[in-house]
Amino acid sequence: MLTIKKMISEEIEKILKGINAESGLDANTVCSMLEYPPDEKMGDLALPCFKLSKVLRMAPVKIAASIAESFSCEAVDKAEALNGYFNIYLSGEYLAKKVAAEVAEKGDKYGAPTELGEGKTVVLDYSSPNVAKPFHIGHLGTTVIGHSLKKLHEFAGYKCVGINYLGDWGTQFGKLIVAYHKWGNAEAIEQSGVDALVELYVRINNAIAEDATLADEARAEFRKLEDGDEENIRLWKWFVDISLAEYQKTYKQLGIEFDSYKGESFYTDKMPAQVQKLRDMGLLKIDDGASIVDLEEFGMTPCLILKRDGSTLYPTRDIAAAVYRKETYDFDKMIYVTSAGQSLHFAQWFKVVELMGYEWYDKLVHVPYGTVSINGAKLATRTGNVILLRDLFAESIAKVAAIMDEKNPDLENKEKISEEVGVGAIVFYYLSNNRIRDINFMMEDALSFEGNTGPYVQYTYARTCSVLAKSPDYDKNAALKITSPDETSLLKTLSRFEEVVREAIAAYEPSVVTRYILDVAGAYNRFYHNCSILGAESEEIKNTRLVLTEAAKTVLGNAFGLICLAKTEKI
Ligand code: ARG
Repeated sequence: MLTIKKMISEEIEKILKGINAESGLDANTVCSMLEYPPDEKMGDLALPCFKLSKVLRMAPVKIAASIAESFSCEAVDKAEALNGYFNIYLSGEYLAKKVAAEVAEKGDKYGAPTELGEGKTVVLDYSSPNVAKPFHIGHLGTTVIGHSLKKLHEFAGYKCVGINYLGDWGTQFGKLIVAYHKWGNAEAIEQSGVDALVELYVRINNAIAEDATLADEARAEFRKLEDGDEENIRLWKWFVDISLAEYQKTYKQLGIEFDSYKGESFYTDKMPAQVQKLRDMGLLKIDDGASIVDLEEFGMTPCLILKRDGSTLYPTRDIAAAVYRKETYDFDKMIYVTSAGQSLHFAQWFKVVELMGYEWYDKLVHVPYGTVSINGAKLATRTGNVILLRDLFAESIAKVAAIMDEKNPDLENKEKISEEVGVGAIVFYYLSNNRIRDINFMMEDALSFEGNTGPYVQYTYARTCSVLAKSPDYDKNAALKITSPDETSLLKTLSRFEEVVREAIAAYEPSVVTRYILDVAGAYNRFYHNCSILGAESEEIKNTRLVLTEAAKTVLGNAFGLICLAKTEKI
């Protein structure tokens, strides 16, 4: 669509120059003003002329009329002035020729604005669970939004580095070590993995509430760990490995891989230099024994750098990590995806980085998201009152498997497909909302094959595959013949993909892609129901419809790839 929009804009530019040569209105400006009318009856594209009337010193109605008078373009069937809008109706034939050819030619690169990220590097910090604590639904957001943003940037040609900044350091390890010595059993931990660790962690916290001396013990064990005690280091590494093995199962279900797992522990020896720099620059202030950076003049509470006992804090580590990553990856942008609850934390230490004179401070981006709660369906949890991501997925997969058993009992590979659809349902449902909105999760809604859901769009993808499988030998290069408005409408939807990708990247908003997928699925299904494909009136029309099906499959597949949704060829 961008190429078509440009063509149209150049035509309009000529006309506007005729009206007023000095206006400075060029094709690019016009292009950015073109809108998609809410109702197709009002055209496929529209130029709201009131936006031009000030510059041209002319009434919108008159501008629209003047454009309509002399406009002509091969991509356009009809164009007219209405109420100050210049409305454009695209030619189905032209769209078919251009769009179908472009999709076929570019394949899995179709829709990719590759010049956007050329030669640029983006670092993405996401998922980052805290070791030996439960990996719960609160982490769903950072994990799938983060990964989707990575996929979007990769698609746009950026070199991406996905970092899982594991919460693998801190006093909780002192507690775990004490708990392990008291009640732990190596074999049981090897067997039940992170659950056993979480259990120990919950138990020690309860015990500490009764007996404060245990907290001192835990602190002492953590101190030993920090000082490099061999046995404690061995235990710590073991705890981390066990937790990671569990997380990786979830990542595998989502098709997520990280480029680096450098967690908080990695930065322990990189903090002193930054603290020293802060001190040398006179940015540190002592406040009740703690070292802080005062941010009052920026309207924020202070950023805490060192506790009273001299130990470092969360912001201290983030500052050291950012400096290290700049040196290591020389990023053009670094994105952090966390819950909105951490927004102040990021605003504070971003400001500190700026005050420290790091000129790349403005390349740091925090992408926050809202909270998740769960309604309705009961979910088994073994760890008390939090809902584990693993259990949420398992529940969804089991439900999908049951639906499959009923609807399509002979399906091959049922297990794999249930997993892809079950996980996909959760991901799609979650990413359907603007990220900043709080979500109330309804399992039944997410799993429905009828609504605007993951199963529905994956089913649509499978539908394109099955149509093509029935007629694999069609002529991909034949001329296309458009005979139905549903065909034109599908083509128009497919042609918008690149703009959608650009918008999603600019707003750090995967839901733009999710909504677009629903548009494509809707357009394809309307086409599928209203236009007979294999039984079309002529070979030419049948061929055209197969080409459109292939194009829809490609675009859906590319878009699925951007939001961690598996391409299900059969359901
Ligand atoms: N581990 C943290 C948590 O679970 C998230 C880390 C986010 N990334 C960062 N660089 N601070 O809350």
